[in-house]
Amino acid sequence: MESGINPWSSTPDVDIARLFTDFGIEPVEEVAGALESAPAFFRRKIVVGHRDYGGVVNAINSKTHFNVMTGFMPSGHPHLGHLMVMREVVWHVEQGGSGYVAIADREAHAVRGLSWDACKKYGREYLECLYALGFTGTTYYQSENERLKDLAFEAAIRINFSDLSAIYGFSQETSLAHADSVATQVADILYPQLMGGPAPTVVPVGIDQDPHIRLTRDIAHKMRWFTVLDSGDLISVRSKNAPSHALDAVADAFPGSRRYEGHVDIPGADCISVSEKVRALEVAEGGYGFITPSSTYHSFMQGLQGGKMSSSVSDSLFWFDEPVADVKKKVMGALTGGRMTKEEQFRLGGEPDKCPVYLLNLFHMIEDDTELLEIRSACLCGSLLCGACKKATFERVKEFLSDFKERRDAISHKVVV
Ligand code: TRP
Ligand code: SF4
Repeated sequence: MESGINPWSSTPDVDIARLFTDFGIEPVEEVAGALESAPAFFRRKIVVGHRDYGGVVNAINSKTHFNVMTGFMPSGHPHLGHLMVMREVVWHVEQGGSGYVAIADREAHAVRGLSWDACKKYGREYLECLYALGFTGTTYYQSENERLKDLAFEAAIRINFSDLSAIYGFSQETSLAHADSVATQVADILYPQLMGGPAPTVVPVGIDQDPHIRLTRDIAHKMRWFTVLDSGDLISVRSKNAPSHALDAVADAFPGSRRYEGHVDIPGADCISVSEKVRALEVAEGGYGFITPSSTYHSFMQGLQGGKMSSSVSDSLFWFDEPVADVKKKVMGALTGGRMTKEEQFRLGGEPDKCPVYLLNLFHMIEDDTELLEIRSACLCGSLLCGACKKATFERVKEFLSDFKERRDAISHKVVV
């Protein structure tokens, strides 16, 4: 398999350094530094990488149109492991982004074998969580969205089996519906631009979803009718597969241009403004004019027991609707970065960076950086002991869960199945 990442594996095992060097994911610091106020997931280096996020940062800063889009596979109840993406989506909506969330029921049905009814039920829970966290925007179930499915079919014209086997390791045994669910995810990511016109779009995902992002970026590019080349004193608008009326429209829009069989040359023009105008013409003539979508990648919080967080290891996480007594057991029984004895802890201090309890606070339970830093220092210098620290953490979790439940109940009516 090309990248060694399989998005359908239950335990994604991803070499982040290799993704950066081999697959062109950029470290996030520089681009996030241009944000006027960076959210915790950037400040705390939870989001580690991105592709092309700069366009979205510009749109945030200049208050121009952009989208944030993601999807959830409704294959079980939502849990702690889903919270980061949800927060990222909500934050982008708060920054002025148009929000889009897909419930990937085609994928859950085709790949995980869930019934449509189960997909409905779980999907509802994800949407409730999102609205409870402050989401506004467009949500849909893939199976019910006709325009999405048509877009998936159009996208599928540009996807062939060798792409699928190179990117995902698909073989002769892979079902057609699984391949179709990939085309549907490509369509999910392009859907905001189908509905609202070309605009920068960010897809916040875990790094395991990068194969889908790479494929979608490639397909978005292939679905464009034109490429614009800057050859110094001449800007050349080349048709990739534009109908001839669209090439005529380009020639008409630029006085002094020369129309050839498959391209239009424009002397003395500025490449960026030509590109933007050509994109608008493409849309006006019936094309998509997609802006290649961007992505951000967050790292995964380790499970409460150490090791991977996964719904198949029930002690590694908690579900949002789990009885609070069970959640307490999990938090109080979590692995820590503490020492074997009290005496050792006083002397050497704990190891917060290796501690799932600390990471739970860092990812989700403490908003204030100063408070987090105080815990970190107290842990490092041995003045905080793990028992007390876990107890305080559980109190925060309890508070979060009861507040979350209240909000879910209050917005439940917004979720229309
Ligand atoms: N494949 C994703 C998952 O397994 C779900 C998904 C569907 C998605 N459509 C999407 C993610 C669009 C990001 C963007 O969780
Ligand atoms: Fe983790 Fe808290 Fe113990 Fe430090 S004191 S190792 S942060 S549980």
